[in-house]
Amino acid sequence: MTATENVAPGMPVATFTDAMSRLVSGLAVVTTRQANGRPCGLLVSSICSYSVDPPSVLVVVDHASRCRDPLAHCAEFGVHVLGHTEERTARTFASRGVDKFADVGWEWDGAVPRLCAAPIYLRCTTTAVFDHGDHTVLIGEVTRTALTEAEPLVCYRRLFHWRLRGSQVRSTL
Ligand SMILES: Cc1cc2nc3c(=O)[nH]c(=O)nc-3n(C[C@H](O)[C@H](O)[C@H](O)COP(=O)(O)O)c2cc1C
Repeated sequence: MTATENVAPGMPVATFTDAMSRLVSGLAVVTTRQANGRPCGLLVSSICSYSVDPPSVLVVVDHASRCRDPLAHCAEFGVHVLGHTEERTARTFASRGVDKFADVGWEWDGAVPRLCAAPIYLRCTTTAVFDHGDHTVLIGEVTRTALTEAEPLVCYRRLFHWRLRGSQVRSTL
């Protein structure tokens, strides 16, 4: 098979984003409280486990996101890994909607807006924030988890109705 090759510098953005779209990723809604007391949240695919000791996750937020400043300055934030039935929630939090929380069930968990239906909830204390390029990296120590069984909502090649079904899992790590 012939590979399509590109060599930096001058890497076209579209080539880079096309390459990254071929990475299968889970999807999560990251939430926090704004200075005005209202909740905010956005959909991210850039979520990963960062360290075990302390138990930490890493999230990357675009400077253009309205959540960037609230997240960069918050003491705590929430991560909600979505299940396959939550495509609508994913689309809502990927939008620039005025009130993304209007049609989802949520409650305050201290200062963190918690989405009730998410199968994986992590409450995180912010431990590091730094900027690189046009994004901000957030590292949060996990202080609370709530887990329920669900098939994940996953994203591949810009589709997020792609389903990773339990029956197709052949081995575990
Ligand atoms: C599949 C998918 C993955 C995304 N991943 C990220 C991400 O990792 N980081 C990010 O800042 N934005 C990501 N976005 C874009 C935000 O969800 C989007 O810009 C959103 O409108 C930001 O909302 P806000 O301006 O209200 O914060 C993603 C969008 C989609 C559809």
